[in-house]
Amino acid sequence: MTTIVLATRNRGKIVEFRAALENLGFTVRSLHDFPAFPDVVEDASTFRENALKKARATFTFTGLPSLADDSGLEVDALGGLPGVQSHRFAGPLGDDTANNAKLLTLLQGLPPEKRTARFRAVLALVWGEGKELTVDGTCEGVILEKERGSGGFGYDPLFYLPERDLTMAEMDLQDKNAVSHRGKAIQRLSGLLTDLIKRGELQHAHRCG
Ligand code: IMP
Repeated sequence: MTTIVLATRNRGKIVEFRAALENLGFTVRSLHDFPAFPDVVEDASTFRENALKKARATFTFTGLPSLADDSGLEVDALGGLPGVQSHRFAGPLGDDTANNAKLLTLLQGLPPEKRTARFRAVLALVWGEGKELTVDGTCEGVILEKERGSGGFGYDPLFYLPERDLTMAEMDLQDKNAVSHRGKAIQRLSGLLTDLIKRGELQHAHRCG
C-alpha cells in the first residue's frame, strides 16, 4: 500500500480527502502524524503557489508523496475576497465563526443576486524532486444572510447552492464531495493518481534535498 500525506491539520479537509484516497488504495496520513512539522507560511498570492509550497515542504520533511490543498471563497461583491486570505479573514487565529460574521457584515443589505460567490480549491501533489502536479476545482453559490446547517466547516453554513436548495453545511459528506470545489479537484486527481500508481512512480518517492 502506498502512503500519502495530507499537508494539512484542518480536520474538515482531512475528512473530505480520506474516503476518496482510501478508496484508491492509499494509506492516508496528515500533519497530525508529524507533530514536529513546522507551519508553512502561506504568503503567495495564488492558491496554486500556496498549495505547491505546502506540498513541497511536506514532501521534504516526510519523504512521502504529499498532497496539499489551498482553497477559499471568492465573493464577487468583494472583488474576489477573501480569496487566499479565507482562513485568516477576520484575524490570524483562523476562527470560522469570526470569519463568517465578518463576511455577513460586509455583505449586509446586499440582495441575493449580488451575493454570488464561488469556492475554489487547488491541489498540489509532490512525489519527488521536480515531480509535481496541480489540479483545481470550483463550485458556484450564493452567500446567505444567516447561517444554515451544522455540517462541513469554514464558510459552509453561509454557502448556498440554489440548484440543491441546500447550504454546504446541510449536505452529508458524500453529497458535498459530489458537488464541491474540493470534490471536483479530487475527481481530477484520482485519474492522475491511478496512472502514477500503475507506472510505479509513487512507490519510488524518496526524500529530496
Ligand atoms: P487554507 O487552509 O489556507 O487552504 O484555507 C482554507 C480556508 O478556506 C478554510 O479555512 C475555510 O475558511 C475556507 N474553505 C476552503 N474550503 C472550504 C469548504 O469546503 N467549506 C468552507 N470553507 C472552506
